[in-house]
Amino acid sequence: MSNFLGCNIQMPTLHFCLILFLTISTIASVSSASLKVGFYRSNCPSAETIVRKAVNKAVSSNPGIAAGLIRMHFHDCFVRGCDASILLDSTPGLESEKEHPANKPSLRGFEVIDEAKAQIEALCPKTVSCSDILAFAARDSAFMAGGINYAVPAGRRDGRVSLKDEPTQNLPPPSFDAKQLKDNFARKGLSLDEMMTLSGAHSIGVSHCSSFSNRLYSFNATHPQDPSMDPNYVTFLKTKCPRSSSNGDGRDPTVPLDVLTPNRLDNKYYMGLKNHRGLLTSDQTLLSSPSTAWMVRNNAKHSSAWTNKFAAAMVHMGSIDVLTGIKGEIRKSCRIVN
Ligand code: HEM
Ligand SMILES: *[C@@H]1O[C@H](CO)[C@@H](O)[C@H](O)[C@H]1NC(C)=O
Repeated sequence: MSNFLGCNIQMPTLHFCLILFLTISTIASVSSASLKVGFYRSNCPSAETIVRKAVNKAVSSNPGIAAGLIRMHFHDCFVRGCDASILLDSTPGLESEKEHPANKPSLRGFEVIDEAKAQIEALCPKTVSCSDILAFAARDSAFMAGGINYAVPAGRRDGRVSLKDEPTQNLPPPSFDAKQLKDNFARKGLSLDEMMTLSGAHSIGVSHCSSFSNRLYSFNATHPQDPSMDPNYVTFLKTKCPRSSSNGDGRDPTVPLDVLTPNRLDNKYYMGLKNHRGLLTSDQTLLSSPSTAWMVRNNAKHSSAWTNKFAAAMVHMGSIDVLTGIKGEIRKSCRIVN
């Protein structure tokens, strides 16, 4: 007896299965726009392997690159959609997204994308977009840092515009509270639960002291220290981030975002929040705000549920405002428009 979607093919059930199938495929096509898993299967079959090898090599010698590439995909998708606008260099007279303080000097991993792109161009010229390479690289980073694997729908094309100021309106700053974060993600079509889930990316990587030093030294008029941060953690962070480093001696040290497992992409980040050891205001607010505190506890408790939600949310984030079909272009170099 044949079997399809777990349904036995008999007349009355067949009808039901067909409806089920159509429903599933409709939902799937809505949620992934017109991107497709295996998009390069026929015209550049080794594209994903080349990216994976470049990421593996870079992350093996510096685990921080995995964090950099996951963050880069986020910063790409939230500004003009996932169109590789983050990868464009400034041109004389026109500064690009890279120059925005949210990206410079902290965003890292650009050379991994260059390396993968150069190898792919040599094999299949003008075929594989920089935006897809970045989406693959973020997935491969999540796999290396956390064993999190998922198929990446592809077929994005690259944009031709990147403006220094645009991250300001689109990327959430670390000072945001839970309500502001929710609204910011909602404007990109991402749910509150997806915002909570994706914040778990702060389970790896580092932050510069300047992104949170107000919490240590100048919180408000009555409280120099942020009372939502564990005082012992404040004391520890002050040793890493002396007051001078936050006001202009040119040094801006970094500390891990997740104290418990700084190089492992996992749900321990939420445990850190429960212990009042969230590094950024935007991290700790997820516990401080009653509307999201229960989600922190759930994510801290259910590791594999969080992992599955993270993979799905990365795919959804990767579909924001993508250029497909004949829109945009396939760049020859990820740093320059054709
Ligand atoms: C929820 C709102 C978010 C805010 C306010 C935020 C803000 C920040 C800030 C301020 C840093 C430190 C930058 C520095 O000082 O060096 C950072 C690092 C990082 N962010 Fe986020 N972020 C958010 C969401 C996300 C999302 C959705 C992802 C990815 C899915 C992500 C991935 C990362 C990673 C991996 C790092 C470490 C980067 C490295 O070590 O190079 N963040 N984020
Ligand atoms: C400072 O922050 C604390 C804790 O969030 C708050 O209770 C207090 O009202 C704030 N003070 C001022 C002057 O804003």
